[in-house]
Amino acid sequence: MYEYHIPVLLNECLEGLNIKPNGIYVDATFGGGGHSREILARIPQGRLLGFDQDPDAQKNAFDHPNFTFIRSNFKFLENFLRHNNAEQVDGILADFGISSHQIDDARRGFMFRNEAPLDMRMNTETGITAADILNQYDFVKLIRIFRDYGEILNAKPLTERILNARTNKLFAQNSDLIEAVAGLYPKQKENKFLAQVFQSLRIEVNNEIEALEAFLEQCIQVLKPGGRLVLLTYHSLEDRPVKNLIKTGNVEGNVIQDFYGNVQTPFQLITKKPITASEEELERNSRARSAKLRVAEKL
Ligand SMILES: C[S@@+](CC[C@H](N)C(=O)[O-])C[C@H]1O[C@@H](n2cnc3c(N)ncnc32)[C@H](O)[C@@H]1O
Repeated sequence: MYEYHIPVLLNECLEGLNIKPNGIYVDATFGGGGHSREILARIPQGRLLGFDQDPDAQKNAFDHPNFTFIRSNFKFLENFLRHNNAEQVDGILADFGISSHQIDDARRGFMFRNEAPLDMRMNTETGITAADILNQYDFVKLIRIFRDYGEILNAKPLTERILNARTNKLFAQNSDLIEAVAGLYPKQKENKFLAQVFQSLRIEVNNEIEALEAFLEQCIQVLKPGGRLVLLTYHSLEDRPVKNLIKTGNVEGNVIQDFYGNVQTPFQLITKKPITASEEELERNSRARSAKLRVAEKL
């Protein structure tokens, strides 16, 4: 059977949400609905609102009176909750990044192993593609993406190769990009390098960091006191604003201290150390490898 996505750290997320049967919950990244299905089963008198910007995810939405699917970017969290009469909620789950379905469907262009168009949009109905970025961005913008989002140390020759290649032929397929950067890195490091290049483009295409930061700051407003924030991150660019938010109440990590020198924050951290997947889970689902789960409670 086709598996859209295997939910990561499922039991740990459910425990983190501390679910009340009549509570109102948000799954900000519905995907295949793996986490949502289990939340919904635990709230017979409650409500669950599931966000996803991918039209493919909407096909997994449940036909259930306690469930509402919102096909939108989660950066509009507050507006959509208000619009759905759910201004204040008891828990929010977010499982950032892309789903296995998005990775595995070659037409979406997230991976470099099979021939695919350079698309990488989560919302396939709007926005610019990875090809547009490679064909249109100038040197300064491209180098910034590779440095900041791919953490690629020597982004200059990479950017030069791209600018050079597009004077002959515009980028369309992932093989155009792979050919353009061939030989820049030793063979044994090529996969890691390409993964960094593709990740950086994906983050830019989907404006991921801006959306993540806008979403996180709205969580403070919409969570009830005692409400739970359950966040799954997969790389350091996601980790940083999440850690900052919980520690300081803002994504930049600007510390505000009270008279006694205590750092002010609207959250209490529940997981002293981020939770990671067990060996047993990794055997079943290798995509859980880099996952870090943090749980915080709104004060
Ligand atoms: C890792 S998957 C979530 C999988 C889900 N927890 C499950 O068990 O099936 C992430 C999902 O979030 C969606 N997503 C990522 N960023 C988003 C954003 N800014 N707004 C709305 N949806 C987003 C993606 O389209 C993808 O379907």
